[in-house]
Amino acid sequence: MKDTYGRALNYLRVSVTDRCNLRCRYCMPEEGIKKIQHEEMLSLEAIETMVRAMADLGVQKVRLTGGEPLIRNGIVGLIKNLNNISGIKELVLTTNGLRLGSMAADLKAAGLKRVNISLDTLNPEKFKYMTRGGNLQEVLEAIEVAKKVGLTPIKINVVLIRGFNDDEIEQFVEWTRNEPIEIRFIELMPIGEVANWSSENFMSNQAVLDRVPELSICQGMDVTSPATLYQLKEAKGRVGLISPISCKFCDQCNRIRLTSTGQLKYCLHSNEETNLRPYLEDISAMKAMILEAVALKPRQHKLEEGHTISRNMVEVGG
Ligand code: 5AD
Ligand code: SF4
Repeated sequence: MKDTYGRALNYLRVSVTDRCNLRCRYCMPEEGIKKIQHEEMLSLEAIETMVRAMADLGVQKVRLTGGEPLIRNGIVGLIKNLNNISGIKELVLTTNGLRLGSMAADLKAAGLKRVNISLDTLNPEKFKYMTRGGNLQEVLEAIEVAKKVGLTPIKINVVLIRGFNDDEIEQFVEWTRNEPIEIRFIELMPIGEVANWSSENFMSNQAVLDRVPELSICQGMDVTSPATLYQLKEAKGRVGLISPISCKFCDQCNRIRLTSTGQLKYCLHSNEETNLRPYLEDISAMKAMILEAVALKPRQHKLEEGHTISRNMVEVGG
């Protein structure tokens, strides 16, 4: 399936739950978000049906997100089923890592290819502060287990926050010297909780190149990836810079999103959505709706002054 600008839409991000076992300050209020009712949440069967419809329309890569996808009951079974859909070539997942250590082997056996792990600091106290109570050690151990079972190459998502983790840039980059991992620095976006944050907290990830000038750009990158890749000389791993604010990848954007209640979103930065739930019994009607929805995908997103996204990140899954 293509949109009106000729972009092939072959990458679907599915939020399997809006719940999370952490409360990161940039993502959720302390008391958590107003949870969606269980009845409103798509069943695992419904998710599978929708992914099947999208695979028929040309989706080849699926990323499971949340909230935290690993707290959804039955996630391993879902992965097994999605992996059996013909057309789905790549099944990956983004996690905070807390449950990953104990689940990695099962996830791998179910057909998951690899994981992205969100980790914004390597300091246990700072981690506890930003996540409101998380234990860094569990995440670091999970990374080791994920490596061992082959959920690789592992990518680590680091949201850059001035005054919080900008002093750790060198340490994160250093990690790529001897390990085949990808550290991806992501600019903080003014979404949900962050919409009210001070402008002091925002920084361009140009800072990474300023701090570590020996990083050089990698050739032959995937044009549909939002990350521009860099590498230290002779390093095993890589460093990705993701700039949602100064977003330059709209032209190549190949993604659509499904929320945990069954809303199809064609752009992260848009409040526009299409409810697919009424079409669970009629797959051809669902496919027609999907095609109608993606036709509205904008050429570029709007992120002018004052344009904020009403949903919290946890609801749309990043
Ligand atoms: N800005 C940038 N990244 C964010 N994420 C969550 N909220 C924001 C935000 N406001 C990140 C998470 C995770 C990914 C899914 O999105 O840290 O890595
Ligand atoms: Fe994708 Fe929307 Fe960003 Fe464009 S603006 S790249 S459509 S998320």
